[in-house]
Amino acid sequence: MIIAIDGPAASGKGTLARRLADHYELRHLDTGLTYRAVAAALLAKGLPLGDEDVALEIARHLDLAHLDKGVLSSHEIGEAASRVAVLGGLREELVHLQKRFAETPPGAVLDGRDIGTVVCPDADVKLFVTASAEARARRRTDELLSKGQDANYTSVLDDLRRRDERDSKRTVAPMRPAEDAHLLDTTEMDIESAFKAAVDIVSRAT
Ligand code: DC
Repeated sequence: MIIAIDGPAASGKGTLARRLADHYELRHLDTGLTYRAVAAALLAKGLPLGDEDVALEIARHLDLAHLDKGVLSSHEIGEAASRVAVLGGLREELVHLQKRFAETPPGAVLDGRDIGTVVCPDADVKLFVTASAEARARRRTDELLSKGQDANYTSVLDDLRRRDERDSKRTVAPMRPAEDAHLLDTTEMDIESAFKAAVDIVSRAT
């Protein structure tokens, strides 16, 4: 079974994907980490985020089993990831790795921006998880504060809006719901009710 989950930053798609993977005993891949890992390596080398030749070389050596979420989760790396994500050749390479991961038995839950449209167009179930920009900014701000990091609601909201704009307006594989995706708006939901709603959708669809 393959479950595809897409949606904007801080929509709750990552937590949902992890919980669904546990529940259905599937493997899980947060595809955002693949873009983050490439961006982080370019930053570490002091190279421009548009250097596609080096980005491709880094992507070819990525080990999906060892993507360190802790190291890659910073706001700066997220911004940089959204910039490298416009490179068409790089996307092809990463999509190839992601497809291979998805197709390895017993199947997987993948979350990202283009899973239902590009990476796994034949997924058994597709979810597009959204929430208002304000709700997402509130969650992201609380999350950062709870980790003891600096966070300001207004600038988090501005950043999310900018990132949504870049991710949904790019020409290659823009973020959008697949035609057969089930929309799940979590604006008024806590994680428990979002999880229940997602399980409901998956069990009705499979
Ligand atoms: O989900 P995230 O915040 O970790 O993703 C970081 C960036 O990577 C996001 O702004 C756009 C890009 N991305 C993408 O283009 N396609 C994906 N499948 C996943 C992430």
